[in-house]
Amino acid sequence: MTVNRRHIVLGIGGGIAAYKAAELTRALMEREISVQVVMTRAAQEFVRPLTFAALTARKVITSMFAGSSEDTLASAVEHIRVAQEAEALVVAPATADLMAKFANGLADDFLSTMYLAFTGPVVIAPAMNTNMWTHPATRRNLETLRGRGHVIVEPGEGFLACGMVGPGRLAEIERITAAVLSVLERRRDLAGETVLVTAGPTEEPLDPVRFLSNRSSGKMGYAIAEAAAARGARVILVSGPVHLCPPPGVTTVNVQTAEQMRAAVKAHFEDATIVIKAAAVADYRVADPAPQKIKKGEGGLTLRLEPNPDILSELGRMKGNRLLVGFAAETGDPLPEARRKLESKNCDMIVGNRVDRAFGSDDNEVVLALRTGEAVELPRASKREVADRIFDHLLKLRAALPATK
Ligand SMILES: Cc1cc2nc3c(=O)[nH]c(=O)nc-3n(C[C@H](O)[C@H](O)[C@H](O)COP(=O)(O)O)c2cc1C
Repeated sequence: MTVNRRHIVLGIGGGIAAYKAAELTRALMEREISVQVVMTRAAQEFVRPLTFAALTARKVITSMFAGSSEDTLASAVEHIRVAQEAEALVVAPATADLMAKFANGLADDFLSTMYLAFTGPVVIAPAMNTNMWTHPATRRNLETLRGRGHVIVEPGEGFLACGMVGPGRLAEIERITAAVLSVLERRRDLAGETVLVTAGPTEEPLDPVRFLSNRSSGKMGYAIAEAAAARGARVILVSGPVHLCPPPGVTTVNVQTAEQMRAAVKAHFEDATIVIKAAAVADYRVADPAPQKIKKGEGGLTLRLEPNPDILSELGRMKGNRLLVGFAAETGDPLPEARRKLESKNCDMIVGNRVDRAFGSDDNEVVLALRTGEAVELPRASKREVADRIFDHLLKLRAALPATK
């Protein structure tokens, strides 16, 4: 691999549009991107690997298992090596079958195995017959892949090889190339940053078995941590109790109460250059949690609550040059509260979301209140896509505000 040259893997699936991957390979190489081609077995029924070997001057990977003459450790773990070297995985054309395999984590050939081993950005350009494209199974797989933050270059409409007219045609080569270039540009734009993210609810104990909490799923904070890591940041995720797997490459600190979250955030604050507080921290805790399980009595039970520390306000007072982002979850229009919090807590951005549209969902629809005074509405999208948009706006904001307070 040439040093400093951007390098991607181009996975080619077994569809009629496989021949267009040759044109895509050339378009990418003309933009100084080196391309390692991986073809599925079905793809080789449509185009010969020789075409791509000649275009890229590289061996095309055509199977998981090398022949006996290549029985070495290097060939045995090639999918890992290839995954580590690539800055992006581009799949064009992506068959319905490949999308189903990726969505469900099947790994029965080189491309699907490499997909699982790959932690960088993924661009998927599907192409298939209209009925396959609109089938509920394909739609569900598409949403799963989108939810992982993969960039989907939607197929165009037109005359298809099967004789149908409708959506399913591989997107124009220029559109796929533009998507790859934008992913590569974004790829390392958080390199050198340390991003501290909080996520999930807190649990405030009443006694050793009961607690007060809220419905936060942690999905937004986890998506933010995943996006930051994918863009090259060092990421520390302070998480309340959730049912999610920590994103790869992220340092996770698990906490239960608001007080523990505060301590964990403060312990990592010094190193952080960007702090995003997506956790739904309980405003109140039980003033005197019982050391033993509270027994059921005859009458009612009165709990005395006391306020938890306002972590965001504390961070706002000590933020220095860090970018500080808070969240406002409201049952009504979130913008007025987002703007109020922005000022009162000395933040650079408040992400306002509506409780009914955000909590527990895989999607989100938010408004960003920015220190510049602007408000930006982000259309409904997967939480992972929203996370990327938040970072896009944060980086723009930093450029517009060279000396944040
Ligand atoms: C002539 C022909 C054309 C095909 N075109 C497509 C296509 O455009 N998109 C698709 O998803 N599957 C298409 N298929 C079906 C795939 O080849 C089949 O699902 C195969 O298992 C895909 O393997 P892969 O995903 O490993 O490449 C086509 C099959 C044939 C025989």
